[in-house]
Amino acid sequence: MKEESRIIQRGWLADSRKMKLPTTVNPPVYQGSTVLFDNFDQMCRAGQGDYDGPTYGTDRLVVQRILEQALRELEGGFATRVCPSGLSAIQTTLNAFLKSGDHLLVVDNAYGPGLRYCKKVLSKFNIETSVIPPSIGAEIVAAIRPETALILLESPGSHTFEIQDIRAITAVAREKNIVTALDNTWATPLYLKPLALGVDVSIQSVTKYIAGYSDVLMGAVTVNERYGKTFTDFYSLLEIYTPDRDCYLALRGLNTLGVRLRQHETSALRVAAWLQGCEKVGTVIHPALPSHPEHHLFKRDFKGSSGLFGFTFAREYSHEELARFADSLEFFGLGYSWGGYKSLLTAAKQQRETPSRYAGQTIVRLHIGLENPEDLIADLSRAMETLP
Ligand SMILES: Cc1ncc(COP(=O)(O)O)c(C=O)c1O
Repeated sequence: MKEESRIIQRGWLADSRKMKLPTTVNPPVYQGSTVLFDNFDQMCRAGQGDYDGPTYGTDRLVVQRILEQALRELEGGFATRVCPSGLSAIQTTLNAFLKSGDHLLVVDNAYGPGLRYCKKVLSKFNIETSVIPPSIGAEIVAAIRPETALILLESPGSHTFEIQDIRAITAVAREKNIVTALDNTWATPLYLKPLALGVDVSIQSVTKYIAGYSDVLMGAVTVNERYGKTFTDFYSLLEIYTPDRDCYLALRGLNTLGVRLRQHETSALRVAAWLQGCEKVGTVIHPALPSHPEHHLFKRDFKGSSGLFGFTFAREYSHEELARFADSLEFFGLGYSWGGYKSLLTAAKQQRETPSRYAGQTIVRLHIGLENPEDLIADLSRAMETLP
């Protein structure tokens, strides 16, 4: 069965029949804190940890579990747990695997607030972070110390789109018993399978493509068998709660992920090709373009690309000129996040610790939504006219 069909062909229908519940196409949302036990003996066993079923609202009710199961299958993992945001998924991963005295390696193109958490919060608990170049591969070995416990990757990074040599990094990490985690939000588990490339933990901001409608904040962590119990025990300890209603929406989004992602990909490539022919544009930064420095790694490891990419202008523009360009766009919203049906734009100079390909240059980041790409091109074309 193809993956897109497998996403839709879920176990809920069979389960609902077994449980003699009405077989609605979508599972019910349980709005619940207290879960009633069948009898006193069952409640006592639950108290001693000798009970399989949900014991409380934070113990993941039906929709959470169905969503986790669907994501676990897609990522090819041992266990998946959902979190109230993508950032929370990153933080929970770091908290689960790190302890005082550990050293952490994070790629320089990682999601900013995640990196900030490492530097400003984990440092308070005597965990030191070193930042490594975003296109790193086997040379990571030089950055590893005896106390290095975790490597956090993001490939491609969601602002500058460098790609890491995931296979080379995980080979080194495995040999040294270092946990590897990768933020897989850009490609989604449909286009990249980090665990199959040797990564131990795959992190998703479900907020983006999986939920797909810019109305849910959620994250997911999928772990391999090696670290499955460590992570799920830690997650249970924290009693992390991700609202049922949001899980329902994410599950609804997941059903259409395949078709949406294909359209995001096709439209983004169409807009990227148009930008490449634009004389005011400097570099179009898209992993699926042969001109991308790590295109060979993209071709080797990824099954497809999504709707998020960047470009630089051929010359730097002033704040006022950029504002004129951005404000004149009709179809592109100006706002953070991405992965929804609406096209979005951000533009900024990147702050980097390691040498950057785009040092000192403004990168315009486009999320290509589900509007017709010809309308988006016409919109960008009109906006380009406002620039000298
Ligand atoms: C690559 C990446 N990872 C994680 C996150 C955090 O996700 P959330 O907004 O769900 O906290 C974001 C948010 O923009 C992101 O771009």
